[in-house]
Amino acid sequence: MSIASPATLATPPSSPHVMNTYGRLPIALSHGQGCRIWDTEGRVYLDALGGIAVNTLGHNHPQLVPALQEQLGRIIHSCNYYHVPLQETLASLLVERSGMQNVFFCSTGLEANEAALKLARKFGNDKGITNPQVVVYEHAFHGRSMATLSATGNPKIQAGFTPLMPGFVRVPMNDLAALEAATANNPDIVAVFFEVIQGEGGIHAMQTDYLQAVRAWCDQRDCLMMIDEVQTGMGRTGKWFAHQWAGILPDVMSLAKGLGSGVPVGALVAGPRAATVFQPGNHGTTFGGNPLAMRAGVETIRIMEADGLLANASAVGAHLRHCLEQGLAAEIANGGVKEIRGAGLMLGIELARPCGALMQRALDAGLLISVTADCVVRLVPPLILSHAEAAQIADLLCPLISALLKEVA
Ligand SMILES: Cc1ncc(COP(=O)(O)O)c(C=O)c1O
Repeated sequence: MSIASPATLATPPSSPHVMNTYGRLPIALSHGQGCRIWDTEGRVYLDALGGIAVNTLGHNHPQLVPALQEQLGRIIHSCNYYHVPLQETLASLLVERSGMQNVFFCSTGLEANEAALKLARKFGNDKGITNPQVVVYEHAFHGRSMATLSATGNPKIQAGFTPLMPGFVRVPMNDLAALEAATANNPDIVAVFFEVIQGEGGIHAMQTDYLQAVRAWCDQRDCLMMIDEVQTGMGRTGKWFAHQWAGILPDVMSLAKGLGSGVPVGALVAGPRAATVFQPGNHGTTFGGNPLAMRAGVETIRIMEADGLLANASAVGAHLRHCLEQGLAAEIANGGVKEIRGAGLMLGIELARPCGALMQRALDAGLLISVTADCVVRLVPPLILSHAEAAQIADLLCPLISALLKEVA
């Protein structure tokens, strides 16, 4: 498939008609190929952002694009009044890879999380708990609907939207004593809801022993373990789902982002304790599970397996980390870089100072990245990234970080 000429699309002027909800960088992206992406002026960038952990297969994938074109010509949307065979196919693929039981499809991460929170409440209501409460975490990010922003642990995201939704008990990560203290004598707790690696919160991971202890705690208390794998799932960390590194099985798992390689798809995956909580009429969505989205999910999984992208995420992620550690050795030694952390192709570089300016500087250098939690450079490139491209990311990024740190010194 040919790539559109950059000249066919001009950079759009900043429009008064698009609601001003993002502080956007001053380029518009026109087309991509693999891990390269071009702007409307013809400049090329190396994509270390993947549309924020979405473009699993990169851009213009030679198998995904024809499959989606074929699907477009067949049927895009049918609606959930009828059976959608591709939903059954994608659900089976997710059930097989997760070891869970069934799936509800939606279109975004917040929708999957909203469904999880509704499911937790119904799980409680069904047990006679009329004021169900969910344990959530400091610095968590779960989305921007009223329920999910209330579950989010970031005051900046909540500011201006009071009253927040009640029913959450917040605890710090990796602190079992704090979980026990915050929930002691509270029979209304119905679920624990968390990210295995907090993405927006700055690439902070739950420890394996903590995850295992929370699993045991949920079993003892008859609570649901609900894991938000919207950013960490679909191979990003080198396993299908990040919790699999800890050998645990959640009761509920939310997915989105990488599941459709850019076509909006969200999913709520349930294990046996959660699989029958929703009954007809309890939850729904018009777009969720439409044939185009399902085809994108099915093809994403098929191509990921055919091309060994889980192993690639692990191997290339380790190489990227190694290149970053080498390129930033002096800054690590002098404390300007506090830590390089993460798993697979979900890496964070924490600086000892705010570094939001790096997004523009990286752009100027031909690299797409993001900065979260003020001080953390986040790298979530497509899972097709090659070893050579990983080295190029480090080559482009490390001098920018060094220069930024020198400005302060
Ligand atoms: C862990 C996590 N949960 C939920 C969301 C929300 O997903 P969406 O933007 O698709 O609603 C995000 C988005 O960044 C996320 O990282």
